[in-house]
Amino acid sequence: MAKDVIIACDFDSKEKVLNFLDLFKGRKPFVKIGMELYYAEGPAIVKEIKARGHKIFLDLKLHDIPNTVKKAMSVLSRLDVDMCNLHAAGATSMMKGALEGLTRADGTRPMLIAVTQLTSTDQETMERDLLIEKPIDQVVMHYSKVSADAGLDGVVCSPLEAEKVHATCGKDFVTVTPGIRFADGEVGDQKRIMTPEQARKIGSDYIVVGRPITASADPVAAYERCVKEFLG
Ligand code: C5P
Repeated sequence: MAKDVIIACDFDSKEKVLNFLDLFKGRKPFVKIGMELYYAEGPAIVKEIKARGHKIFLDLKLHDIPNTVKKAMSVLSRLDVDMCNLHAAGATSMMKGALEGLTRADGTRPMLIAVTQLTSTDQETMERDLLIEKPIDQVVMHYSKVSADAGLDGVVCSPLEAEKVHATCGKDFVTVTPGIRFADGEVGDQKRIMTPEQARKIGSDYIVVGRPITASADPVAAYERCVKEFLG
């Protein structure tokens, strides 16, 4: 199974993201494009970064009725991204619709992964606002299982959950884990964190790293450090 470090390119303009990627010279890191950059620059920025030779995780977290998600995924699939995602809360028929929409005429498609519960949602919020009264780790595992049964490739989860997701859904079910920090780095607003090395040991397949790289004085060195710790 492919393992990699994905850089969360949370920038608000084309100029900023391209200046950032230029620092890497010949290297082509796997890049995550989220809502901020996509809504600022539209599909053109995805095409441009792809044309520069990067793999792309398009992190738009779709959640709507099955037909709408199917059609939206079909459009996103044409951008030739490598990975995209949706909310598992949209349920099985939405996930199946998404897979159909993503599949190109030649049978290929980007990887599709699900967000289970956002890491910003805790037990108290889930019970109070969503009326879900089961333990949150049970909810995350259930959403993972439903996603796997719908045919998805994996989930976004905390690195602390990666091991259990693999135990529940199989080792080939991909875990994409944000919440990564260096042992000697700033934690910021992330609460449940791991170092790249710990994420490797626990079996994460892809780590998503934003500010420890993008806000570093030397982003390329920070990226190399992540790769070394995570890929060994
Ligand atoms: O800067 P930092 O390393 O915290 O960036 C993590 C990235 O992963 C951000 O783009 C954030 O939106 C994303 N993410 C997350 N937690 C999730 C899902 C996505 O931090 N549960």
